[in-house]
Amino acid sequence: MSANLNQTNIEIDDPNFQQAFSQLQGNILKGHGRDHSRHVFFSFVGDSTANRQWLAQISNQVTSTLEQQNQQQRFKEKNEIHLFTNLMLSCHGYKQLGIEQEKWPSDKAFQAGMKDLTTPFDTLPRGDHNPTANPLNDDLEQWENGFLRQIDGMVLLALGGIDSAQAEQQLEQEVQKLQASMAGVAEVVFVQKGHVMRNDKQQVIEHFGFVDGVSNPKFLFSELNEEFKNGGYSRNDPSAPLNTVMVPDPGGNADSFGTYVVYRKLQQNIKGFWDRLDILANTLSENSPTNVDAEYAGALCVGRFKDGTPISEQGNDGWSNLFNNFNYDDDADGLKCPFHSHARKTNPRGDTVRQFNSPPTIERSRRIVRRGISFGSTDLAPNKEWTDAGLLFISLQADIVDQFIFMQNTWCNNEGFVRQGTGMDPLVGQAKKGQPPAAQKWPTSWGSPNAEQVDFSFSGFVKTLGGEYFFMPSLQFLRSL
Ligand code: HEM
Repeated sequence: MSANLNQTNIEIDDPNFQQAFSQLQGNILKGHGRDHSRHVFFSFVGDSTANRQWLAQISNQVTSTLEQQNQQQRFKEKNEIHLFTNLMLSCHGYKQLGIEQEKWPSDKAFQAGMKDLTTPFDTLPRGDHNPTANPLNDDLEQWENGFLRQIDGMVLLALGGIDSAQAEQQLEQEVQKLQASMAGVAEVVFVQKGHVMRNDKQQVIEHFGFVDGVSNPKFLFSELNEEFKNGGYSRNDPSAPLNTVMVPDPGGNADSFGTYVVYRKLQQNIKGFWDRLDILANTLSENSPTNVDAEYAGALCVGRFKDGTPISEQGNDGWSNLFNNFNYDDDADGLKCPFHSHARKTNPRGDTVRQFNSPPTIERSRRIVRRGISFGSTDLAPNKEWTDAGLLFISLQADIVDQFIFMQNTWCNNEGFVRQGTGMDPLVGQAKKGQPPAAQKWPTSWGSPNAEQVDFSFSGFVKTLGGEYFFMPSLQFLRSL
């Protein structure tokens, strides 16, 4: 029997999903959890037969969902260390394999590729049509050379649970082994290093210093249980049906599934961000009875304080857990958490229901699965701007146009979302080239209906250095090549 993708809260050992999960790649339903990674971008140079043979051979190394679960168990019980591997292909990669077009994953953005800025996509709420080209407002002049070259696929290698230096050294060796296996078939376009950064509580953080990866859709009952310990889910149900992230693999059999991958290298200007927050804090303080500091101003940008405390819940940090059981019902006018804040733009938790009378299921269907990792220096207070630091943003979804592109275009970049005058997401909003974004409105005191709203422009501290759309196919497809 083929797996039912409408289901929520399943377990990996569910008998109905054994066939599907033996073929579904890992890192989709649950993060692989390793702290060190290499992203090996390659392009094919061989003929399609040689390319297929190499992929079929390398697929033996790819970690399935079931195998990831086994590895996790063996790590817990015996401290066994396992290399984790994902393999993904761009649409150009499918072409180079000689796969017939009807077996290509059908997503329009995937087929166009991220460098294509001319194909129009429908990014309005479902039902309305206003096709837009370059919906992300990307500027290829900012991209690194590697991403401008033809990328046919990427192998993600990850290791953790051992000393950092050892993990890095072993990963280097794995990259060399992989490269050797490609001889005459594919060449490495470039290798991107990634590493998890942690705060003193060992929580994952990004380069601006905020706890990251707190809110993600949850597919497994065991993960929902974890969420329960962090405040329950009475005000935000993190569970999501499998079809948020899994789609039938057009190249496989009835139990073969894959997912679409959005990869974006996002450079972060740490000094610029915190310097601008100082100015924002001073501006707010001038108009407020209380003194506002940069940390508070940062929470107004992100929607959470550095320790993860949602600013819609309280006006200062201090939650001791990674709290996710909240919505904006008690902050319908954005007086506590501004509508433009990153977390509110990317997951409005009911704002579109209130604002547009849109069904909650539609808003929830936009959710993406974030599996990114940081890159570059670990210095969180560099003394110059635009250092080698940022996020290797990786999102997984069943539909790139309706999920990631919609989120970036119709929510983050849209100054009129969720209301006229809201402004762009101050973290990741991208304006059209040559069109400076309008100022956002910032509340001068927390939650007060009488508090003045100050206009202040905050943007431009995250730069896209490149990226690509991929499909992560089933192992059945890879092995049948
Ligand atoms: C949440 C940082 C890029 C989508 C967050 C959080 C932080 C953060 C600190 C709050 C913690 C959490 O809930 O996990 C960043 C940084 C980025 C970046 C520094 C770039 C360098 C993006 C992009 C998107 C995105 C490009 C998609 C367009 C999300 C989503 C959430 C989130 C969906 C969860 C919101 C929620 O459910 O409450 N991000 N992010 N992020 N971000 Fe980002």
